[in-house]
Amino acid sequence: MAGLLDDIEPLKQTALAELKAAPDLAALEQTKGAWTGPHGKFTALMKQLGTLSKEEKPAAGKLINAAKVELEAALTSRREELELAAALPKEPTDFTLPGRRRTLGKLHPLTQATEDIVRAFRKIGFAVADGPEIEDEYHCFDALNTPADHPARDAQDTFYLAGNDANSDSRNTQHATRDSRLLRTHTSSVQIRVMKSQPPPIRIIVPGRVYRRDNADATHNPTFHQIEGLYVDKGVTVGDLKGTVEFVFKELMGDDVKIRFRPHYFSYTEPSYEIDFTNALVKKMGKDWLEIAGCGMVHPQVFENVGYDPEVWTGWAFGFGIERIAMLRYGINDIRLLYENDERFLKQF
Ligand code: DAH
Repeated sequence: MAGLLDDIEPLKQTALAELKAAPDLAALEQTKGAWTGPHGKFTALMKQLGTLSKEEKPAAGKLINAAKVELEAALTSRREELELAAALPKEPTDFTLPGRRRTLGKLHPLTQATEDIVRAFRKIGFAVADGPEIEDEYHCFDALNTPADHPARDAQDTFYLAGNDANSDSRNTQHATRDSRLLRTHTSSVQIRVMKSQPPPIRIIVPGRVYRRDNADATHNPTFHQIEGLYVDKGVTVGDLKGTVEFVFKELMGDDVKIRFRPHYFSYTEPSYEIDFTNALVKKMGKDWLEIAGCGMVHPQVFENVGYDPEVWTGWAFGFGIERIAMLRYGINDIRLLYENDERFLKQF
């Protein structure tokens, strides 16, 4: 059976050539099957081994095994080539093109405004303080000289937490449960927390989120942000308050800013004022003044409540809305835009 021995080499050469020429992975698998699969041509050759004589078998077996090893190697190397080719881009790469840049994220306009306000206050020695958004009536109202029967409390009648033992009934009586919890209506509650935790002097600002029972419209939202300020020392005057507010607003909005104090009422300050503000932007909106904050000299009763001697210590406090400032700065005409997180809006700032 010299025929079989002679067939091995040419068959192997053809198989090698076909494997090397396979244009893609699918074709390669098919070629492999055609040669070494159960019905492959090379498999058929091995099956014929049995028909050889005893003398011919070892030499033929050796040849066939060596050929098989060669075919396997050719298959593996072609497979690697094709896999690599499949992973490469179809189009040639132009290495002179500019690289793809990752777009940088941005801070939310409210965060930007808050950071700028904080930076302005830091320049004149104010530290940032913090307090809980879930407050109790004591810190939110009572300690701020706003007892349960005080009319000023109606305006801030707000989000009480479920499971409270103080329901709406108790809020309307003089015997309100003092530990009932609510979402804070203003950052003023942090004044109490800070004064109770440290002796005077104090120079803090408190940026934070507050909650009111407001219907959302272009200028209202049930959730918004305030910055509280508190300054306690000996011999503090309204002049200090006005100078500080003026300095910060000029830092924020430019040198053409004008500030006006209008008498007002807050139960935790005496005297109390509302701060009006104007500059070219406000004029452009067709307004003379824009109300921007509440403030005043800390009420002696508040000092009593936190254990400071009102005969010794004096101070002022203010609170203003961050949204209003951000809207003015960036020319935003609807407060709700600030909470929708629409990228097309946020990208602009
Ligand atoms: N808490 C007031 C509000 O939410 C703002 C305010 C007024 C804060 C007078 C103060 C203040 O600290 O002295 O409308």
